[in-house]
Amino acid sequence: MLCVNVELKERSYPIHIGAGLLTNTDCYPLKSGNKVMIVTNPTVAQHYLSTVTDTLEKIGCLVEHVLLPDGEQYKTLDSLNLIFTALLKANHGRDTTIVALGGGVIGDVTGYAAASYQRGVRFIQIPTTLLAQVDSSVGGKTAVNHELGKNMIGAFYQPTAVIIDTLTLNTLPKREVNAGLAEVIKYGAILDFPFFQWLEQHIDNLVALDQNALQQCIARCCQLKADIVARDETEKGDRALLNLGHTFGHAIETHLGYGNWLHGEAVSAGCMMAAVLSEKLGDLTPHDVARLEKLLARANLPTVSPDGMTAQDYLQLMMRDKKVLNGKLRLVLLKALGQAYVATDVPQEQVIEAINRCTQVD
Ligand code: NAD
Ligand code: GLY
Repeated sequence: MLCVNVELKERSYPIHIGAGLLTNTDCYPLKSGNKVMIVTNPTVAQHYLSTVTDTLEKIGCLVEHVLLPDGEQYKTLDSLNLIFTALLKANHGRDTTIVALGGGVIGDVTGYAAASYQRGVRFIQIPTTLLAQVDSSVGGKTAVNHELGKNMIGAFYQPTAVIIDTLTLNTLPKREVNAGLAEVIKYGAILDFPFFQWLEQHIDNLVALDQNALQQCIARCCQLKADIVARDETEKGDRALLNLGHTFGHAIETHLGYGNWLHGEAVSAGCMMAAVLSEKLGDLTPHDVARLEKLLARANLPTVSPDGMTAQDYLQLMMRDKKVLNGKLRLVLLKALGQAYVATDVPQEQVIEAINRCTQVD
């Protein structure tokens, strides 16, 4: 088992990473008599709810669960209310612990429920998608969507532990695994060139879900994220670097509508646009850009824009982004592979040229 610590003084917590951890009672910061509410969805429940329930009962916890409908469209105040209703009906007090068992949607909604139920109760993250294991379960961003914007209602609220059982990835659809790999490759590109090189050597093992490679990879991503969160918990500075490719990616997701491209797929194409733009600005070499493109392609990820989406479509959507300041785009770009920065004044013509270079040609 590997362990990474998120250092936030009295709110510090461990991330346990290993195969079969769902049944390892030592990973759960709970004791006999503790009340627990597991929040999950029917897709994840059919695979893992009974295993987690059995483990918690072995510790001596009093365990209940609530199922939310599966999907980003249910990351809503209504789902939050389902959790509150279940907690209130079963008389859960301030000493309860809420367990998020699922992907990023379950983690984000459950985290916000924990932040606000009776002004804050303990919660544990058990992420079961690769994206949630390398990103969303770590760092305390919790939220639900509003019909006028994604993740608009939320809080920074840290879990008390993150338990990553890498065997859960065996039931995850391949397309979701690949989407998670986009975030993994992003870490190498923004923060860690040796890790980028390691990924070039091991990407096929990761795609094939080799347990040893997965554990090393997830631990490295969690360490990189833990370091950033420790120095910038509420995204006043460095934490923004984690958004490489996301401004372009969000434009793709909004343009295509929910469910067409997965978030990681849009981030993959977005990372390529950011890399091409970085080359235009004289920072990356054509060879660097080709390396990134090859790595993403080996993870079966898109490296060009969706069919028919124009540079104008991007610009219109990107100017609505949360990161626009005084009408100027703020983009995460690369000085080199493994070294990202926030650019505040990139000429629009260069952005348009970079998007056009990443447009499909038949
Ligand atoms: P998701 O939670 O929708 O999970 C994807 C699908 O996989 C779902 O159908 C889910 O039920 C299913 N699933 C989950 N685990 C499974 C397993 N082991 N086996 C089989 N099926 C399984 O999607 P996601 O990609 O995990 O998360 C996306 C969400 O995460 C978005 O809402 C995004 O905003 C959020 N997010 C949050 C942060 C953060 O810092 N809080 C960071 C990145 C993304
Ligand atoms: N996923 C970006 C962040 O946690 O800041």
